[in-house]
Amino acid sequence: MLFTSQISGTVLLAASAVSAGTVLWDGRFNDYASSADLDKWSFSNPVGEYQYYIHGKGEVAEYVNLSADFKNPADGASKQGVKISLTDTAFWNGDAMRRTELIPQTKAAINKGKVYYHFSMKRAETNAPSVNREHQIAFFESHFTEMKAGWISGAQGDADPALRWFVDSKSQWDTPGRPASGTTWPTRSTSTPAPSASGTPRAPTP
Ligand SMILES: *[C@@H]1O[C@H](CO)[C@@H](O)[C@H](O)[C@H]1NC(C)=O
Repeated sequence: MLFTSQISGTVLLAASAVSAGTVLWDGRFNDYASSADLDKWSFSNPVGEYQYYIHGKGEVAEYVNLSADFKNPADGASKQGVKISLTDTAFWNGDAMRRTELIPQTKAAINKGKVYYHFSMKRAETNAPSVNREHQIAFFESHFTEMKAGWISGAQGDADPALRWFVDSKSQWDTPGRPASGTTWPTRSTSTPAPSASGTPRAPTP
């Protein structure tokens, strides 16, 4: 897994059990005044909707920036969106790959049963994800479902411009990763394929 370029985009997360219409976990940042609120989270003070500890040594806004500028304009239920960046300081814990991660802070069973995940993502021309590097954008630690872009084959010198949805490391669906500048990637809902999925939930990052 490699992250080597900056991602400009919005990622809005909400997991809901559709049969009951219940939102199991809501990651839309409506309760965050700014991304600095993410810094209030710690293992001993697990406040807010996200765990924020996998990131570089810079200020939080260098890696995670919240603004109405980044939200899906068609989404009236969110007051803002997030731009997640992999800058040249975005290294965590001695890793060679760049990582900026937001992890759901919840005990809800968001990886069990039939659950729908809603992500809205946008690609911009400026600092777009490299087509030559793998980007794990929205994923669970067990990789039973995930959105990925770039360098999917892992083959040296290969480029992949598509945004892809993977289940258990197999591509199920893709869309061109280079839509007209400023347009939003189609919103995609994914559901868990089986009630047996396990693993620590990890949020995008695109
Ligand atoms: C965060 O986004 C806002 C809105 O686009 C912008 O004005 C600001 O400069 C950004 N901050 C950082 C640290 O990138």
